[in-house]
Amino acid sequence: MTEPKLLIVVLAAGKGTRMKSDLPKVLHQVAGVPMLGHVLSLAASAGGEGAAAADLAVVIGPGMDDVRAEVTRRAPHARVFVQHEQRGTADAVLAAREAIAAHTGDVIVLYADTPLIEPDTIARLRAALAAGSNVVVLGFDAVDPAGYGRLLCDADGSLAAIREDKDASGAEREVRLCNSGVVAFRVSGLAGLLGRIGNANAKGEYYLTDAVEIARADGLRAAVVKCPEDEVLGVNARDQLAAAEAIFQARRRRAAMRDGATLIAPETVWFSADTVVGRDVVIEPNVFFGPGVVVEDGVRINANCHIEGAVIGRGARVGPFARLRPGATLGADVHIGNFVEVKNVSMGAGAKANHLAYLGDGSVGAKANIGAGTIFCNYDGFLKHRTEIGDGAFVGSNSALVAPVKIGAGAYIGSGSVITKNVSADALALERSSQEEREGWAAKFRTMMARRKAKG
Ligand code: UD1
Ligand code: CA
Repeated sequence: MTEPKLLIVVLAAGKGTRMKSDLPKVLHQVAGVPMLGHVLSLAASAGGEGAAAADLAVVIGPGMDDVRAEVTRRAPHARVFVQHEQRGTADAVLAAREAIAAHTGDVIVLYADTPLIEPDTIARLRAALAAGSNVVVLGFDAVDPAGYGRLLCDADGSLAAIREDKDASGAEREVRLCNSGVVAFRVSGLAGLLGRIGNANAKGEYYLTDAVEIARADGLRAAVVKCPEDEVLGVNARDQLAAAEAIFQARRRRAAMRDGATLIAPETVWFSADTVVGRDVVIEPNVFFGPGVVVEDGVRINANCHIEGAVIGRGARVGPFARLRPGATLGADVHIGNFVEVKNVSMGAGAKANHLAYLGDGSVGAKANIGAGTIFCNYDGFLKHRTEIGDGAFVGSNSALVAPVKIGAGAYIGSGSVITKNVSADALALERSSQEEREGWAAKFRTMMARRKAKG
């Protein structure tokens, strides 16, 4: 049987006052990706095995142009609706009335400030719809239920109503089973049903949660699917943002280890949502991965490295204390040692820069050796230029390579040179004054100075 088509409505209209931020709440990041991005990825994965991608409607607040731009960038097919006034979650969903009314099939409502929900959980909600429920609410047992809507169930476990904290009786407040906010519908005429929700409650808001009682009164079936509390953490303030980050990181570290990486001190390694880590990779303590990093099999990353936008080839070694910036592409078995910074440079297999260097904008050939203190002088104050080093070249310590410049394959650069002109393959380039020696000078100097000091 083919699954009915899915429409996902993402609520992102909240101002997020408690974040105390100029940035809209849903653009704050978890693991380098805005919370909204996490939810859009979840939506993208929720179409179902082999099924068409879900339709997507995102509800934003007035004037949230940056949120709209983020939606368009990450999910170009999404329709964006504006909720002009914050009148409650049902009103927010109805801002997308046009999309809902035109849709026949399932509808799932997600919050953009709840970034940790897993695809499998959405699959379980859909399975409950397929099993005959019309309204399925994602619930969790809260350690501290204060503030959440309580799920009130019948003796047979079906869902009778959701009671908001402020409207709950003393007995209802004792219930620990809470509403995550995520709800799935298989209701024909859903827009009509939601339109019947009123606002006669403590907050004077149109509560989406009232859909349960209305559906029940219509003879429809409502059910609860449970998940762990961690998964439905909602972010209202910065401490919850940090908590969401911690949960995400713990998951990501477990995934890296499950896939065959050794993390010596997992709690000190920070991944981005998109970090790719291969097998038999060893990551020492205190390593940070920004967005866009691929670590191939057999790589060792020593302690205290900061890595973003980089590809680290099979068997390479990085660190300790190395910095790889966007566009650093390390071939197989490359060695990058301590206090080396690499930006927008591709390095051929077996190339080495083992100590104290800045390699920015260029290329380093296979098996080339970059000595300690080498600098690619890539910037003239206006423009960036490239340094290209051929295979097997040897750049002596403390060389400044003033770009644009090319060093031929197999060439030698004498230590301490400032290279401003291209160097041919297999040549030696030396740019420094020749060494002078004065015999006995130091001994005479010492005698003279000792005498002068003794005179006072
Ligand atoms: C809501 C649920 C509550 C649940 C809790 C889980 C309702 C009535 N209550 O309560 O049962 O336990 O979430 O966190 O649904 N939003 C809009 N427009 C609005 C109002 C809200 O877009 O007019 C968005 C908010 O930005 C937020 C989400 O909807 O992302 C939830 O709204 P919020 O006011 O935080 O609801 P809660 O009171 O937390
Ligand atoms: Ca909330």
